[in-house]
Formats: sequence, C-alpha cells, structure tokens
Amino acid sequence: MCSVIGYSGNNLAAPILVKYLKKMEYRGYDSVGISTCHKNSIITKKKVGRIYEVNKKNKLDRLPGNVGIGHTRWATHGSVTDINAHPHASNSGKISIVHNGIIENYMEIKKHLMKSRYKFYSDTDSEVIANLLQYNFEKTSNIKKSMINTIKQLHGKYSFITILDNKLIAVRHHKSLMLGTKDGECFISSDILGIPIEIDDIIYLKDQSFVILGEKRIEMYDFSGEHIRFKTKRIEKKFHKISKLDYKHFTLKEIIEQAKSILQVNKRSIMKLSKLIKNTEKIYIIGSGTSYNAALIAKYLMVRYCKKIVDAIIAEEFTILPNMDEDSAIIAISQSGETADVIDAVDMANKENLNVYAIVNVPTSLLTTKCDCVVKINCGIEIGVAATKSFTSQLATIYLLLEEISNKKLINLASVSKSILMILENKLEVINISKILKNVKNMYVLGNGIHYPIASEGALKLKELSTIHAESMFGGELKHGSLTLIDENAYVIAINPKDSTYDDMKISISEIKSRGAKIVGISNHYNELYDYWIRMPTINEFVFPLIEIIPLQLLAYYLALEKNLDPDHPKNLAKSVTVK
Ligand code: M6R
Repeated sequence: MCSVIGYSGNNLAAPILVKYLKKMEYRGYDSVGISTCHKNSIITKKKVGRIYEVNKKNKLDRLPGNVGIGHTRWATHGSVTDINAHPHASNSGKISIVHNGIIENYMEIKKHLMKSRYKFYSDTDSEVIANLLQYNFEKTSNIKKSMINTIKQLHGKYSFITILDNKLIAVRHHKSLMLGTKDGECFISSDILGIPIEIDDIIYLKDQSFVILGEKRIEMYDFSGEHIRFKTKRIEKKFHKISKLDYKHFTLKEIIEQAKSILQVNKRSIMKLSKLIKNTEKIYIIGSGTSYNAALIAKYLMVRYCKKIVDAIIAEEFTILPNMDEDSAIIAISQSGETADVIDAVDMANKENLNVYAIVNVPTSLLTTKCDCVVKINCGIEIGVAATKSFTSQLATIYLLLEEISNKKLINLASVSKSILMILENKLEVINISKILKNVKNMYVLGNGIHYPIASEGALKLKELSTIHAESMFGGELKHGSLTLIDENAYVIAINPKDSTYDDMKISISEIKSRGAKIVGISNHYNELYDYWIRMPTINEFVFPLIEIIPLQLLAYYLALEKNLDPDHPKNLAKSVTVK
C-alpha cells in the first residue's frame, strides 16, 4: 500500500528517499515519485513502475536539495498513470505533498477550490490536499494556522507529508507515521523500514497530530493547535535485518522458515489473553484475507474445546450485534496490524466499550495501540505479499491459547516443526505437480471440517501467487451445484488426511472422478482415487491444519515460477491494506 517518506538534514535528500522507498517496496505499489526543495523551488519526478527501473531511467536520486518527500502509490482514486503518481504539487508549485489514505470529501473540496480558479490535473483525492494547503497558506502566511485549517476541512483517514515554505510537515490522522532524528537529520516514514537502522529511538506521531520540522527544532501539535510533548521509543532492530539470503524470493524463504517460526510465539502474552478469555462468554474473532482463515480455525477449535459462543467475522463485515455486551470479547487477528478493515472494526468495538484483544505480528503497529491485550506471534518481518509464515504462527498461537483456556495438553509444536521439515524436504513432489498444473485456469480446493479454512487459505495462495482461479469448498457441497463444472479438464485438490473427515471426502472424490476430473490428494494415506498424491506425515488429527497448508503454499509458489510470475510482487496487491 502507499508508503510516504520525508527527509530534511545536511545531506542530499533524493538518494536517501530512493534508498528507503526501496526498503518499503514490499508494501506493494504501482508508481513512485519524489519532490525535493532546492533554492526555494520544488522539483518533482514521478513515474509508473518499479523504483529500480524508474530511478534508472529518470534519475530520481540525482535531484538536488536537502529537504524532500517520497512516495510509492497503490492506486485507489484514479488509474495507474504518471500524472496520478505522487507527489502532487499545488497550483503555485510551491507546495508538494505525498499522501497515504483516503480523503472522503475530496470532490466537495475540489469543486470549492475550482470556484476559486484552482486547476486540477490528476484524478486523485490527494491533489486537493496540496491546493487546499495553498489556499489556506495564502490567507494566513502561517504554517501552523494553515495546517489546522486544512485538517479541519479534510474528512477521512490519512497521513501526509508536505513541503511547505521550504519546511517539512507531517500529519497523522488514523494512519501510522513515525519520525527518527540523528545528528541534525530528520526522517519521517509510514513504515519502520523507512527509518535508518542507525537510529535507535523513534517518535510515533500521536494520532490526530502534526509535526513541523524546523532547522533547529521539531514542533508537534494536536489538531486544535495545542503543543504536544513527544516520547521516543526504542526501535526493534530485528525488523531491519531482513535479507533474502540465498533464496530466490522472500516468499520461498518465508515458507521454509515456518519450521522455526512457529516455535517463536510469545507464550507469556498467550497466558495473559487466556485469563481474560476464560471469563468471557462470547468471542468474536475478526480478520481479513489469510487472518480471517486463521479466525475460522480458531472458531472451529474454540467452539469444540472451550464451550463458548464463538463466531469468526470478516473484518469489513463486522457490525456490533445486539448480544455484544461486557461479556463479549473481540479478538482481532492481523499480521500487519495496519489493515484498515480491522482497524475500523476495532474502533467500532472500542466505542461500544467491548473487550478488544489482538493477535498480531508487527509489534509497533496501529492495532497494538488500540487493544486491551496484545499477543505477538513473533514470526519476524514478513516481506512476501502472500502471507505464509504469519498464518502458521497465528495458528500456533491459537492452539497454545486453546491449551491455556482448556487446561489440556493439545499440541507438541516441536513435532509439528519436524513434520513441516519433512514436507519441505519432499518438495520435489510438489514441484512436479506444479509442472502438470501450470496451464490450468480453474481449480477447486476441497476440505471438510477443520480442513475447510485450509482449503480457503490454499485457494487464496493459488490466486495470489499463481493467478489461477481457485475456489475452496466443503467436499460434499460440490454435488449441490458446482459439480456441473466438473469434467475431464477439471483439476481438484482434496485435503484428505486419515481422520474423521476422510470417508466423506473419499465419497466426494469418487463423485468427481466419475466425471473425469483429476485429483491431487493431500494426505498421509494413499488412495487409488488420487491422480497425484502429495504425501503427508502422520500427525495428531487436531493439528493437521498446521502442516497441510505447507504443500499448498509450495504449490502456489512453484506454479508462479512455472508461469514466470514474480511471487514476491503479485499484480495489484499490497502487503498491508491500509485503505478501505
Ligand atoms: O495484515 P493482515 O493480516 O491484517 O492482512 C490481511 C490481508 O490483507 C492479508 O492476509 C492478505 O489476504 C494476504 N495477502 C494473503 O496472503
């Protein structure tokens, strides 16, 4: 999703901005641009494309000036074009802005400014910020007052950084922004990776605040103009130390890391959360995408083993239900802790004074500031857009939470880890199947009972990484309509461990086979109905989900390679989806 960055100091801004925008590439983007301020004028370069290529052709990093802003855009308003790329200049050319988020009332503001003869060149909501700032600054000639007036007129959730009157100003309104300083240099960024590793302490801008970076001092204000004292926080350096090592892609590295990363969950905070949940009657687990699939597993297990009322809700669909009261708890699951759908749901729950807890990976994320108890899954930074290791760490956390709540020993993570290693060692089987499936356009992924959320997660990986349309389904559901699409050209993946779901899945597979489709069976038990068998180790039926997702992740990854796709950067996708 959009990244914003700003620099002011004694060094040239442009190479620094380009360097740190590259570090934030994993967030996903379609275009890139920077503005610098040199001899009282602003110079901007921006283009559609990857940072490396755009910079090579257009020499972004050669712009002069010691103050600058940079941006990678993930289009929300207006198509992917050079003009819609950020930064956006005001009509006078004296103000430039980079923006993350959405300005809901941008049309209204645009119409109002057009009446005052302002011209607009892009289709974005962001350009209005630059012109509104100019409008307000020309009236007051005062940075602080013009910022307050502008903020008052903007509706939505956003952060932006602007060069105004040769100064850098950053505004945070419900979107993360952080600031680091060292030896007279200031760095502002939407992501911890936009701050140099040499900086030990950072300032998280308070929500609804803005900061003016003068040559000698930093002034921070709330939206009404009251001065705010800021606190610094020690940076977790491990988030900076990321490298692909010898792996071709981060996605593969992260898939392989899972044998270790599931062992790193924070047990202390799990105990704390379990105590809180023990006293709760109704639990609503929310999440988006992969984290929602983890929520579905959590629901399945908690209903069975904790005897509580539990529901899993897609974050965007979360609404306060009449039976939600002080006996209810919301558990928000999120890798990034920045997903707008999740943050909105949590805000809504907080407004109703519900108990709100989180299971999160990024310890410095917005979500962690909004919850009464936070469990960190600790799998390390996940760069691949497709969630892999964060999913298995979310599941490991859920299993351990369940152990605490039910006071029963349910899982041996060390043996799960060994099973994951065995699957990874047998990856040749999966690679061979990926060669056979590379031209397939549609697939079903079947799973019964607790395996259904894994089928959904597997289908999501296939869509994201290999761009194959995949649909998850309960085995028996196929005959209620979708079977009409099954013929000798169809491929169906069946998650079929030898457990209580096995016999029913076998019946579904027979029905599919009778119509000529090919079956890829993921199982610890051979069945002659499989055309291709992905052999799985035998493990306690209850924890099978934790290992059966691995071959599906591998399959999606190797299919991407077969199709010459870049698994680390799937088209149109962003790592953390910070807009609605
Ligand atoms: O950071 P979150 O877990 O809140 O992200 C939620 C989804 O955007 C995310 O899981 C998305 O579906 C992944 N790209 C899936 O691989």
